[in-house]
Amino acid sequence: MSSSTAIPREGRSHESIRKTLGELAAQDADWRGHRVFSLVYQHTDAHDVFLKEVHSRFMSTNGLNPMAFQSLKKMEADVVAMSADLFNGPPGAVGTLTSGGTESILLAVLAYREHARRHRPWVLRPEILVPSSAHPAFYKAGHLFGVRITRVPLGSDFRADVAATRRRIGFSTVALVGSAPCYPYGVVDPISELAELASKRGLGMHVDACLGGYLLPFIERLAPEERLKPVPPWDFRVPGVTSISADVHKYGYAAKGASTILYRGIDWLKHQFTVETDWCGGIYASPTLAGTRPGGPIAAAWAALNALGQSGYEANARDLMALARKLVAGVNEVPGLTVIGEPCTPVLAIGSAPGGPAINAVGDRLESAGWNVDRVQNPAGLHLILNPGHASVADFFLADLAAAAREVRDHPELAAEGSAPLYGMIAKLPLRGVVRHNVLALLQEMYGPDAAGSSAPATSVDLDGAVPVMVRQALRVWHRVRSRLTALP
Ligand SMILES: Cc1ncc(COP(=O)(O)O)c(C=O)c1O
Repeated sequence: MSSSTAIPREGRSHESIRKTLGELAAQDADWRGHRVFSLVYQHTDAHDVFLKEVHSRFMSTNGLNPMAFQSLKKMEADVVAMSADLFNGPPGAVGTLTSGGTESILLAVLAYREHARRHRPWVLRPEILVPSSAHPAFYKAGHLFGVRITRVPLGSDFRADVAATRRRIGFSTVALVGSAPCYPYGVVDPISELAELASKRGLGMHVDACLGGYLLPFIERLAPEERLKPVPPWDFRVPGVTSISADVHKYGYAAKGASTILYRGIDWLKHQFTVETDWCGGIYASPTLAGTRPGGPIAAAWAALNALGQSGYEANARDLMALARKLVAGVNEVPGLTVIGEPCTPVLAIGSAPGGPAINAVGDRLESAGWNVDRVQNPAGLHLILNPGHASVADFFLADLAAAAREVRDHPELAAEGSAPLYGMIAKLPLRGVVRHNVLALLQEMYGPDAAGSSAPATSVDLDGAVPVMVRQALRVWHRVRSRLTALP
């Protein structure tokens, strides 16, 4: 493979580029083999082929100018209207398409900041309260827009703690956030209670349904025995909910680059718009963060909703919940393992029960067996986002999970090997600034001047760099001592 870092002087043949692309793709996680449990949301191969056709047809179009590309404006309006209908929006509900969940959340935070500037100008630095399971996009938004994002600890059920949230509301609080569901545990926050609190205190209430927006409405329609547990109310039916972010590129099975941000009314939406009238390039109006708005994802989002239809999404929800029930039952059968919290979605975190095997070491064994599982921290766990393709590998996964748990139980010293102790340490390290500093250094390395032509550093190397050597060694010793003690008769 070429390691050239300049644009080739002469263009390469398509064939040679295809070959290089094949080599590059071979380094990626095996998502086509369904061994990846995050990042990719795939419905079926046939759906993908159709999406590609739609996407490429609109690839060169640009939604920045809706007059020039009225097709895109119409499709965006349709997606927003279909989503508002799905989320039981009131007649005045409005919104836009965005490039993804993060952009939708950024826009919501911006809208609440601007809304506060208009309606509560005495608030100098607006604050938004989020449950500690809320997505990091809120912190990114806070960082970009100068909004204080205050993390409120979760309740014992891993959902937002309403009483704790009530206690944290202060003079500068402008909005509350709940997730439907949150990424780490697949649980839906008590949106009704949070929204009631928000409306009593005159605050906005944002529901982050990036993950569940195009799935929860269909899980709700299933028979009780088909679900894991009932879905609590979370959408515009709940009075007091003022905005919802929902990603069509997740369980809506659109092409990547498509999310929606919806508001109960135009009074919030208008605050996310930018208008520049004095630019010498002309009057510039933009409804979202992006300038150029690629037509491909807009068309693919429209096509996905139309192609699957309500019956397609409902059938998908039924299949996914059957798979989720199978996995939850399978995990609970493995001695020492448990599902964290009580998810109502096919998003699961697997943790250790008291006295169970060290879960990060179990994760390491699964990775050696070719599975790509993300980790959660505090408490430690393995993270699974289920999609239809996982049905074909569920039995193998559960068998490998049981074998991995058995191996770690029989050899507790494994908790001190591989990346397992590092994951544990990083989660528990009290000096969060050290971790942050080292992860920032890693990003600088990946995107710095020497990054061209190199691939991302291996995970074990990343994690080693994130904790000072002495702390690492001390924790390794502690792990060894602890495993010896637990091994004593
Ligand atoms: C609950 C939740 N919110 C927001 C996001 C951010 O979405 P994106 O990665 O599309 O920016 C995610 C991503 O997984 C999510 O799960």
